[in-house]
Amino acid sequence: MKEKLNEIQNQAKDDLVNAGSPEEVERVKTKYIGRKGGVINDIIKAIPSLPPEQRSSTGKSANILKQEIGKWIEEAKEKFADKKQAPGAKEIFDLSLPGENKPYGRKHPLTQTIDEIKGIFKTLCFDIEYGPEVEHEYYNFDALNIPADHPSREDFDTFYLGNKRLLRSQTSTVQIRVMEKKKPPIRMIAPGKVFRPDTVDARHASMFHQIEGLMVDEGVSFSDLKYVLTLFAQSYFGQDIKMRFRPSFFPFTEPSAEIDISCSLCKGKGCSVCSQSGWVEVLGAGMVDPNVFDTVGYDSEKYTGFAFGIGVERLTMLKYGIDNIRLFFENDLRFLSQF
Ligand code: DAH
Repeated sequence: MKEKLNEIQNQAKDDLVNAGSPEEVERVKTKYIGRKGGVINDIIKAIPSLPPEQRSSTGKSANILKQEIGKWIEEAKEKFADKKQAPGAKEIFDLSLPGENKPYGRKHPLTQTIDEIKGIFKTLCFDIEYGPEVEHEYYNFDALNIPADHPSREDFDTFYLGNKRLLRSQTSTVQIRVMEKKKPPIRMIAPGKVFRPDTVDARHASMFHQIEGLMVDEGVSFSDLKYVLTLFAQSYFGQDIKMRFRPSFFPFTEPSAEIDISCSLCKGKGCSVCSQSGWVEVLGAGMVDPNVFDTVGYDSEKYTGFAFGIGVERLTMLKYGIDNIRLFFENDLRFLSQF
């Protein structure tokens, strides 16, 4: 019986070597390991008629051979599959078909705005700094001279996480972190996300972006602030843009100002975006309050500085005439692919 199995093994090998097509391989399969009429199955079926001492070893050998032949058959099939693909692929390549359209990815409009603003401030030698979005109350409020009873500290204006941690509601936090680490002179901007529990509408979202700015040195004055912000607005919106400084209040600057630009949509004539006033508020700014310098250990007699905070969504909306902030966050490619 052993000899017979050896013979079958050799024959199967030969048959597979000679098989010239997948169909022939299939025929070899049926011949040797087919369930009905397969040579090996016939041997297995005939085991009960063998002398008892040969039964178990024959069964074992037959099964091993069956598995082996099965493996060779799979290998032979694979060989044909490979062969088929290579010459076949050449034949079906049609040069006259239009190319596959691979759409280019692009940056989100807000990222584009942030990049553009970073570029403008880099030419003025401002460093780019980053701070954490999960902040300690100290950096979001205390160090910024914001008193304990200030309304911005209320639950409905700030997301609290417990244990004096919160989601930062302004990028002014980064001013403090940078001043703690570095000595003047400082020129920096800090772009990033901020969070406020605002009800979402066409102009408000619970997450949006700001760019904080800070310059500290000996002899920095309000006219430097005006110069830098005017240069920035002209670079971003174009030379014709007009700016208006209105007196305001922020706890971390004294004096403080809110800065409007002439509405770029109606060119100052009055429209729904600027509430018919011709002006749109784009940023807050001011001279750094000496209390802030004292907190970070700067000599407030020696150094002065200015700070500002820019709203990235607002700026992007104005530049491109977008009337709903939600469009930035819905991931609708019909909107995003326009930029
Ligand atoms: N942090 C302010 C806000 O979120 C914006 C701001 C105003 C930043 C005045 C400043 C500043 O640095 O000087 O409303």
